[in-house]
Amino acid sequence: MSELSVKHLLGIKYLNEKDIQLIFETADHFKEVINRSIKKVPSLRDITIANIFFENSTRTKLSFELAEKRLSADVINFSAGQSSVKKGETLIDTVNNILSMKVDMVVMRHPNPGAGIFLSKHVNASIVNAGDGAHEHPTQALLDSYSIREKLGDVAGKNVVIVGDILHSRVALSNIFALKLQGANVKVCGPKTLLPKHVESLGVEVETDLRKALNWCDVANMLRIQNERLDISYFPTTREYTQQFGVNRTLLESLNKEIVIMHPGPINRGVEITSDVADSNQSIILNQVENGVAIRMAVIYLLASKIK
Ligand code: CP
Repeated sequence: MSELSVKHLLGIKYLNEKDIQLIFETADHFKEVINRSIKKVPSLRDITIANIFFENSTRTKLSFELAEKRLSADVINFSAGQSSVKKGETLIDTVNNILSMKVDMVVMRHPNPGAGIFLSKHVNASIVNAGDGAHEHPTQALLDSYSIREKLGDVAGKNVVIVGDILHSRVALSNIFALKLQGANVKVCGPKTLLPKHVESLGVEVETDLRKALNWCDVANMLRIQNERLDISYFPTTREYTQQFGVNRTLLESLNKEIVIMHPGPINRGVEITSDVADSNQSIILNQVENGVAIRMAVIYLLASKIK
């Protein structure tokens, strides 16, 4: 039987191409399951999972919880804002206290890059990174590639542009790793101030002209400005950012082809994307959210099979 090469999902950087294909094939099965009238399977009845979120989340938190419940795992949820972290408890103490309640797997979102990697070295449980600062967001990249595969048949050979705040985006980095592993061609587009130095060393090209980038691509993944991570101003005004790097209906209709529009959410309507584009037939934003549940079921199921 095939299994993942890793015990934890800490980042796409630690996966290989076979891991990604295995996750996708497993997600295909679970996507079929969650579209049945009975959406639940008993696969993980003996597994307990803790979702610990030190940062806000809507999609990722709900999607993991639903995925776990669809697999019949026992689930506990922890939000740092209402916990003893506020009284000074350390990350390791917090997690070890949770684990002493016989928890097998921890899904963690944390503002610090590398928090999941640190935890995996200090606690005895399978760790899933649900986003660590500006570092990685592996399940988002998996569901993004899975959605491209579903829409266009394959990821290999497709032209994908990631637009926006690449510098502060964990979605961008995980997507770059995932898309390159699968043989896609990747460009990044945004203000020079929001593109990391030496980003080309990741195997991507830089394009600062959005129209050129859109005319080149099959898929545009639009990112929001990570205002919560901006310590200084990286562009003059939001209005000017939108004029240069926002997609709108007029711009899309002026292109030489129809492209697929993606966004990981949360959307800032009218900034990086207008409502008429976000809600159009070209947009697969809600398909991404739907696919997130199947992808997270696949990840949890495959990691849990390594615990037993
Ligand atoms: N895409 C994403 O991570 O969204 P949330 O922050 O709502 O989880």
